[in-house]
Amino acid sequence: MLRPLEMAHQFLAEVVTKEDIVVDATMGNGYDTLFLAERAKKVVAFDIQEQALQKTAERLATAGLTNVELVLAGHEQVDAYVDTIKAGIFNLGYLPSADKSVITQPSTTLLALEKLCQRLVVGGRIAVMIYYGHEGGDVERDAVLDFVAKLPQQEFTAAIYRTLNQVNHPPFLVMLEKVKEYNHG
Ligand SMILES: C[S@@+](CC[C@H](N)C(=O)[O-])C[C@H]1O[C@@H](n2cnc3c(N)ncnc32)[C@H](O)[C@@H]1O
Repeated sequence: MLRPLEMAHQFLAEVVTKEDIVVDATMGNGYDTLFLAERAKKVVAFDIQEQALQKTAERLATAGLTNVELVLAGHEQVDAYVDTIKAGIFNLGYLPSADKSVITQPSTTLLALEKLCQRLVVGGRIAVMIYYGHEGGDVERDAVLDFVAKLPQQEFTAAIYRTLNQVNHPPFLVMLEKVKEYNHG
């Protein structure tokens, strides 16, 4: 059985091609950035910690990949960097190797998610890995679940992939696909 992060990667790999611009909303150590850079035309990757950009730059250089824009800014500013996108990924929570007090926050996560949903092309997908074992993680988890549950079904399909019998707050995956463009005006 696939683990949630493996499922997230498979879910995005099914639609991402060398024609596509995609977003890594939480760069961290760059594992997702690398995965997407190997498949997309261009990745725009965000993090608020300089350490994340350094680690990711090293990882990409080792792989010989140059199709990534590394942005030292919060993902809530994504609209200043991308127009339409084919896919996006979030890994919420903190970077294990860094300052564990620097965590993603519900308000900025939701803002970024909303902006990415607007910029997603029809057939595009977003994967959100939810870690909620840390302080405040449950609030962010509930905020994301509430947001996706309210997305109009004419425009998005939202699904969840989670284990039911594991102890210690196992991370889980929320998957979104835009099925139709909807005129909100
Ligand atoms: C769980 S880690 C990401 C792990 C990463 N995907 C990887 O492959 O290593 C979460 C990251 O989100 C970053 N972060 C926190 N708030 C952010 C924000 N507003 N915008 C972008 N990144 C943010 C943290 O600095 C941290 O590096």
